[in-house]
Amino acid sequence: MGSSRLGYRSHSFLNEYIQRNECKRMMEIGVADGENARNMIRVAIRNFSPEEVEYYGFDLFGGNNDFKLSLVRQKLKEMKCKFKLFKGDSVETLPEVVETLPKMSLIFIDGGHSHATVKSDWENSKCLMHNETAVFFHNYDFSGPKMVVDNIPRENYQVKIIHPKSDSVTALVKKRV
Ligand SMILES: C[S@@+](CC[C@H](N)C(=O)[O-])C[C@H]1O[C@@H](n2cnc3c(N)ncnc32)[C@H](O)[C@@H]1O
Repeated sequence: MGSSRLGYRSHSFLNEYIQRNECKRMMEIGVADGENARNMIRVAIRNFSPEEVEYYGFDLFGGNNDFKLSLVRQKLKEMKCKFKLFKGDSVETLPEVVETLPKMSLIFIDGGHSHATVKSDWENSKCLMHNETAVFFHNYDFSGPKMVVDNIPRENYQVKIIHPKSDSVTALVKKRV
């Protein structure tokens, strides 16, 4: 898990990309405790008012009660941006809502790391890409993400493997236009 001056669970490569490319609509698959969400939003609102920033998060949010979901919801409410959280297996939840979601500036795929889950997350994320959307696959060095990324057709997508300092190897995928 990465860290930077923004604190634990902050990925400097995401924060730098958000700042430089003025991202305001972000999706994260694998929200965990919402710390990375909060940091990404914090960077986005340097360029936009909080009301203009949107965050969409998918996670299991652990188990039968909504305790973890409530904690993340409370953190994000404090950011005053627009946000939606989806609880459950992204293999099911993301296809259920994908047609209702807008195109994203940035998508961070960091949920389940099995090949089947990452493949499903990528297939659905593709529907939410415009010509400038950046899709980051965390832990490219894990077999699931690696197999998915390695099979992305290079004639349609640019794929860059990045080695952030003190963080996991990550793939950055953009449409070739
Ligand atoms: C590595 S953590 C995410 C870390 C977070 N992105 C960050 O940067 O701090 C992975 C998260 O994915 C969630 N997860 C695992 N499998 C999932 C699945 N099939 N669908 C949705 N979320 C999943 C876990 O509950 C966990 O919170």
